[in-house]
Formats: sequence, C-alpha cells, structure tokens
Amino acid sequence: MRDVTRTLAMMVLSGVSTAAWALPWNIDMVDSDAVKAYEQEMRTLPQGVVAQPNALTPFGYVRNYVRESAEGQALSNPFEVNDAFLATGERMYGVYCQPCHGDGLELGPVGAAGRYPGVAVLRGEQGRLPQRTDGHVYLTVRNGGGIMPSYGWAMNDREMWSIVAWMRSAWKDAQAPSAGAASTVPMGADGGAPAPAAPGTAPQGQEAP
Ligand code: HEC
Repeated sequence: MRDVTRTLAMMVLSGVSTAAWALPWNIDMVDSDAVKAYEQEMRTLPQGVVAQPNALTPFGYVRNYVRESAEGQALSNPFEVNDAFLATGERMYGVYCQPCHGDGLELGPVGAAGRYPGVAVLRGEQGRLPQRTDGHVYLTVRNGGGIMPSYGWAMNDREMWSIVAWMRSAWKDAQAPSAGAASTVPMGADGGAPAPAAPGTAPQGQEAP
C-alpha cells in the first residue's frame, strides 16, 4: 500500500514538472521557419549600380557642436519656415517632447512628480526658451543636455529644426533672447552633469542646405 502511494505521488509530481515545460510553452522562435542569419548569401547590387547614401532622404545633419560653444550658440535654422515645416515641428514635439515638457508650461505625464526628474519648464517667465538661442535649443535636442536625453538618433536635421521653429512660432512667451541678453539660468543648471561631447561631424556631402 505504501508503495502504491509512493508511486502515485511520484507520478503526480513528475506530471506536474513535465507539464511545466511541455507544449505549448516550449515554442521558441529559434525553431520557426524564418530564414536564419547567415543562411542566405547577402544580396549584391545589380550590375551597373552604385550605392549612394540617403538618396531618398537627402537630409543629413549639419556639423555638430558642443552646445555651450560660441559656434553652437550661434547656429540658426537653415530650412525655410513654412506651414509644412511648422506642421512637422508640431508633430515631432507631440511625439518626442510633450511626454516630458507638456505644453511648455505644465509638465507632461513623464515629467510628473516621481517620474523623470528635473524636467525644465520651457516657456513663460521662468521658462528656458526665452533664455536660449535657437542653436542652443537645437543642440539640446540633438545631443541632449544636463539630464535630458538626446534625440538626434530619432530625427533628421529638418525635423529637429522644425521643433525649434514651431515652439518659437506657436508660443509667444518662448521667443529667443535678444543678442547679448544675460541668461538667469546657467546652462546645464538642473542636472549638474556636463553636456556630452559632440559626436563626430557628418561625413562630407551630408550637410544640410
Ligand atoms: C525624458 C524627458 C524629456 C524629454 C522627452 C525631453 N526633454 Fe527637454 N529636458 C528634460 C530635462 C530633464 C531637462 C533639464 C535638463 C537639465 O538642465 O539638466 C530638459 C531641458 C530642456 C531644455 C532647456 C535646456 C537648457 O539648457 O536650458 C530645452 C530647450 C528642452 N529640454 C527641449 C526639449 C525638446 C525640444 C524636446 C523634444 C525633442 C525635449 N526637450 C524632450 C527632459 C526631457
């Protein structure tokens, strides 16, 4: 009788442990029918064709600068500001900036208390935009600044500049400081972390117009 109990107990236990890793939980993408890496030879270019970067998206990046440098501060928007450009800026702001910076006055959901710390108010009397040149704002988006992450990986130059232009155009309380005006908020004041070194310059032929 004790043997029977023990056997039963062992069957139940082994049943449980088998069930834990048996079908259908052992499906693994490695076993799928997809073409595996290196299973196929890399395709070569057709005859008489030359590889060219950015043929369909001809917007490269202008030269990069450290945000605090005189050259960086003096950068200005190289693109024509029209309705389409501003619409791009508004859309990009909504995707990449609004979650933290909200409408520029009230912080967005990611900038709320207990979440991403130290998010700067952008407009209005205490706002950063009236204290910063266009070049400064553009380089903040491109390279990040203080504890703000960079977004140069997510956008091309036209898109980054369109955000700068859109904020200046949509928010009357976010105009650029007049030349020579002293800033009341030192650069990188909030985070304390130094601005990241500027990544290398764009390869030849990729400069924006
Ligand atoms: C993850 C949250 C987050 C997102 C998203 C974000 N920022 Fe920021 N931003 C910050 C923080 C934090 C600071 C304060 C940085 C500091 O000074 O340490 C800041 C500061 C700034 C400043 C002031 C910089 C200065 O030197 O005064 C500007 C301008 C700015 N952000 C623009 C933008 C724009 C434009 C976008 C969208 C491309 C954006 N931010 C997206 C968190 C964010």
